[in-house]
Amino acid sequence: MRGLFTLQTLSTQKIQEIIDLALAFKGGKSSKKYPGKKMATLFFENSTRTQYSFQTAMINLGISVIGFNASASSVNKGETLYDTVRTFESLGMDGVVIRHSKDDYYKELENIKMPIFNGGDGAANHPTQSLLDLMTIYEEYGHFAGLKVCMIGDISHSRVAHGDLEIMKRLGMEVYISGPSEFNDGCAPYLTMDEAIEKCDVIMLLRVQFERHQEKMKMTVSEYHKLYGLTEERVNKMKKNAIIMHPAPINRGVEIADSVAECEKSRIYKQMTNGVFVRMAVISMVLDGNLWFY
Ligand code: NCD
Repeated sequence: MRGLFTLQTLSTQKIQEIIDLALAFKGGKSSKKYPGKKMATLFFENSTRTQYSFQTAMINLGISVIGFNASASSVNKGETLYDTVRTFESLGMDGVVIRHSKDDYYKELENIKMPIFNGGDGAANHPTQSLLDLMTIYEEYGHFAGLKVCMIGDISHSRVAHGDLEIMKRLGMEVYISGPSEFNDGCAPYLTMDEAIEKCDVIMLLRVQFERHQEKMKMTVSEYHKLYGLTEERVNKMKKNAIIMHPAPINRGVEIADSVAECEKSRIYKQMTNGVFVRMAVISMVLDGNLWFY
């Protein structure tokens, strides 16, 4: 299979190469174009940033974009994921981006030869989100080793937390988690909110993923905000150069106070901007044959 499914099979050297190319696109040092290429975005779960940032990346690369509305497609007539993707391959696409609620959905697509870019699978991976998170950290600090990061919130349902923590550890970062114990799946050492705020260089907040919960969250959203939300008071206790990140969508007043979302330490909107450039880098490397896996 060709494309990008997970960062777990990528060397840290390859990841640095992607970040460097993304920075070259951002700095106007690369203006590669792929005229005549066509790609589609197949999103079976809701998305604003990932879907439209992939589409923006394609437009920037001169690639024609085909959108897809799952609820108005033959998926509703019982067509499988494989047959849907096989259809787009038969239409002559040069690649597709897929988001699906099932962990590792791409393992069903082994017979597909066209490149596939994973826009998020269940609670498992979100490789381009991890790359844009890394790019944002790298732009800030110029390195990864030794930096302390804490992911705070609904860890167990978060593909962002799981994907990010694996690669951050490999890059030599000290990774921690925090938030309600009901969301602690033990994927990294736990810190209390106070410890996380005082100790970490990167505070990464996560949305409570209500749509994935089998059981109702044990506390109300206002209790959540009080106990685990990033309030102005907590921001004031952060390290001088520490930054705030969030994959978004953000729920102002729940995991983050309204006034904090765009404060001087927040890199949330920068992450969105960087998302376009890492997606340009990944598409370009796959189309050039520099990124092959599986
Ligand atoms: C995340 C996702 O869908 O995995 N958002 C994103 O892609 N930027 C996180 C979320 O939905 O909370």
